[in-house]
Amino acid sequence: MKSAASWDAEFRAGKYAFLRKPSERARLGAIAAMIDRSTRMRRPVEIADIGSGEGLLLDFLDPGRVERYVAIDISREALRGVPDGEIAVRRVRAGLHEWDGRPAPVARRILVASEVLYYHPLGVQHLKMLGERLGGASEAIVSCVAGKAGKPNWTHSANRLWRGMRGIGWRRIEAVRVRDAEADLSWDIARYATA
Ligand SMILES: C[S@@+](CC[C@H](N)C(=O)[O-])C[C@H]1O[C@@H](n2cnc3c(N)ncnc32)[C@H](O)[C@@H]1O
Repeated sequence: MKSAASWDAEFRAGKYAFLRKPSERARLGAIAAMIDRSTRMRRPVEIADIGSGEGLLLDFLDPGRVERYVAIDISREALRGVPDGEIAVRRVRAGLHEWDGRPAPVARRILVASEVLYYHPLGVQHLKMLGERLGGASEAIVSCVAGKAGKPNWTHSANRLWRGMRGIGWRRIEAVRVRDAEADLSWDIARYATA
């Protein structure tokens, strides 16, 4: 597993600047649309974004539906990039394997784990624990880049992740595949009830 120091160094070197490309917007927009569907007819929620990076999801969230955004990331450097705005923000420097769920939620909490679970060998198991106990969440949204020709390791990671998600037994509420034709990238995104 890559250390926090390596993630910090890579963020400083600009390795994750690609996440700001227009090609990533389809993925972030699809996650935000799931959050909208989850909040329809209900009260506003709190988003706990595990492996938040620089909080790019914030741009897509509706301030009328999201009361607070908690960014949790192993990299202090990534968290430095999380902007303040209309939605209240908290930044927590922790790996998904060590986060204790604090601060306590201010509203019904939805966990987001977007493009992070495959970086930890037990990522799905940690998400299960966060979803059912520590994280105090009612739903979780998971995103994973799809495998493609010439990227056998992506295919392997994605298969392993989704097999793991099926294994933890959470009810899947919805799932979508989004694609960016220009970048030739696809992502699978699913929303689950954690209880
Ligand atoms: C590819 S980026 C994805 C960022 C963002 N979630 C997105 O969808 O654009 C992966 C992020 O996960 C973080 N990360 C990697 N391993 C982690 C771990 N074990 N616990 C928490 N965050 C981790 C990295 O620091 C980085 O910010």
